[in-house]
Amino acid sequence: MGLAMSVIGTGYLGAVHAACMALEGHDVVGVDTDEARAVALARGEAPFYEPGLDEALVAARGTGRLRFTSDIRAAGDCTVHFLCVGTPQSRDGLAADTTYLMAAAHALAPHVRGDALVVGKSTVPVGTSGAVELAMSGERGGGVRVAWNPEFLREGFAIRDTLHPDRLVYGVDAASASADVAVLDEVYAGQVGRGVQRLVVDRTTAELVKVAANSFLATKISFINAMAQVCEAAGGDVVALADAIGMDPRIGRSFLNAGLGFGGGCLPKDIRAFLARAEELGVGEALDFLRAVDRVNLGRRTRVVELATSVCGGSLEGARVAVLGAAFKPDSDDIRDSPALDVAQRLHRLGASVTIHDPKATHRAKAVAPELNYSDSALGACTDADVVLHLTEWPEYRALDPADLARVVRAAVVVDGRNVLDAARWRAAGWTCLSLGRPAA
Ligand code: UGA
Repeated sequence: MGLAMSVIGTGYLGAVHAACMALEGHDVVGVDTDEARAVALARGEAPFYEPGLDEALVAARGTGRLRFTSDIRAAGDCTVHFLCVGTPQSRDGLAADTTYLMAAAHALAPHVRGDALVVGKSTVPVGTSGAVELAMSGERGGGVRVAWNPEFLREGFAIRDTLHPDRLVYGVDAASASADVAVLDEVYAGQVGRGVQRLVVDRTTAELVKVAANSFLATKISFINAMAQVCEAAGGDVVALADAIGMDPRIGRSFLNAGLGFGGGCLPKDIRAFLARAEELGVGEALDFLRAVDRVNLGRRTRVVELATSVCGGSLEGARVAVLGAAFKPDSDDIRDSPALDVAQRLHRLGASVTIHDPKATHRAKAVAPELNYSDSALGACTDADVVLHLTEWPEYRALDPADLARVVRAAVVVDGRNVLDAARWRAAGWTCLSLGRPAA
């Protein structure tokens, strides 16, 4: 018998969690203040591109165990409530904006049964679980049990990461630890049954685990991008360097792909929010290195703008630039803090005529960057280009025939901002290939 649960907030995290929980046998109601989103999800349509999510929603709906609504009262009968609301960077600083999360907690509070468990999954500044508990208990006029259970899913692999996570982290309050762990074990019976390790920690540590993990990943990427800068100055090859150091199991090869750096709705804002929170805690200096991580990351975007400018003879006025990719990474239509789109917009501001292609993210990119030109094919985007920038590593760009492209461009120069194109093949087709951290041929 599954549990009756609500999932509050149906963005990337919540929509995937709701669908997966229903597929695992629970009775799930997803609640979102955005009614149109709730209606679309109820039809089995994800409001964003995530491989397998539409299918998961349809399959879950078919079981009769998944519904979506904008009416928070629908959560009233549930014994578990997941808070999956977004915590974006605030408009006026580095800190995370927890307004939406706290609003959701306030809205939910009057409908929470006395025996129910509230489980936070959003990425939050350390200490937020206590604030949520206080706010909800105050609103209800009675105690509310709050646990924190961070989520580590990656966009593009969200379903797989939810059903087969590397680990489960339960952050529980000492006063109700055994009851809370028992509920979470029931929630994740499927995953635990498939052998997934679960770690039981206090709520503070659970909140920190998430931001520490994302900070470490961001640090790895910026480390290799710093090495790329050194390789550029010294004439080394950062890809070979990453392969060599990655063979040491203490280092590991993953997240050592040098290039245009990280973007998206998580890594950039999480390191900044962590810095802001550490300042508040009086330990800002301990995380000073995250400022360098951010700086190195943003510096790679400037480097690509400089490369494009120099290819175009020192000025972008009147130059035509083709940009392959708008999403912050492949298999996603997410353009939040997208390095590719940022570079495209900067080039436009410097006078270039920029035509961009992305297999999935065009509609979103158009909404925030209407000043750019869009093409529905890579070939179209490259037509008459003075330089082609490969900025998001969609597999289909690796499959392009460089000879076909060479016929339509004005100048056969490509900047591989992700270091994944087969440079030898492109050169054989007459291209000059520039990349980040690798010697130009
Ligand atoms: C990230 C984490 O990987 C997840 O574990 C976490 O749950 C999630 O944030 C979150 O907090 O919700 P995601 O933002 O989906 O997931 O994307 P990643 O796969 O981590 O990639 C982030 C960025 O780093 C992308 O722009 C990607 O292109 C870039 N990247 C990644 C590199 O530049 N080099 C690499 O070697 C790896």
